[in-house]
Amino acid sequence: MEILILPTKQEACVLGARWIARLLRNKSHAVLGLATGSTPVLLYRELIRLHREERLDFSGVTSFNLDEYLGLGPDHPASYRRFMEENLFQHINIAPEKTHIPNGLATDVPAACATYEEEIQRAGGIDLQILGIGGDGHIGFNEPGSSLSSRTRIKTLTDRTRRDNAQFFEKPGDIPWHVITMGVGTIMDAREILLLAFGKGKAAPIAAAVEGPVTASVPASILQFHPKATILLDEEAASGLERADYYRWVHEHKPGWQRV
Ligand code: F6R
Repeated sequence: MEILILPTKQEACVLGARWIARLLRNKSHAVLGLATGSTPVLLYRELIRLHREERLDFSGVTSFNLDEYLGLGPDHPASYRRFMEENLFQHINIAPEKTHIPNGLATDVPAACATYEEEIQRAGGIDLQILGIGGDGHIGFNEPGSSLSSRTRIKTLTDRTRRDNAQFFEKPGDIPWHVITMGVGTIMDAREILLLAFGKGKAAPIAAAVEGPVTASVPASILQFHPKATILLDEEAASGLERADYYRWVHEHKPGWQRV
């Protein structure tokens, strides 16, 4: 696990976008795992800039999003399909048929989840998974207590996550109770993981995930077992880390060939 602490969220997102760009330049048919929420918005903005100004090419890319609210169709303003269209897909040259997001209107939810897993397999697996982290340590919508080997399935949101996401809905009664989310095991199958976290509100879950015990009570802590997970933080999100100085030291002394 590598911890990168950048002075600001902007700088962290520029680095994150360079990370993705490097992958796409080495592997034009890469499979990206994508996240929604406030965390990756600036990252996506930087990817759009790289596409427009430096011709970063998404034409061969396939994408799989982590999750979607159950009951919301693709045109619902708070659906993750709509979020991805507005914040990334409409602004780059990714082929619409290569973008995958769990079907929030699925009637047979277990079958839709199994199909999603199969589609990921058929695409060759995820090369790079982008993650945010919930205030309670969730990744995807794998809330505390989720099996650490779970696959794509229905989950019930915690009251806290529903409150955290209330800003995207007109009124509290509109917030869905259920989601379809990739499982922790699905996420761990990605060949590489890039988790981003910004702001004071993420200091506690980041400290628990990075320096606490591996436990289903903090689903993000499983990333300690991933062979290639990078945690990209701003100073505020890093403020609860006991070994922050060591992580900075490691970064400063990296051999040139390891730098992005
Ligand atoms: C989003 C997702 C969630 C968010 C997390 C953080 O697709 O799966 O795990 O990454 O809830 O949300 P923000 O970024 O809004 O703080």
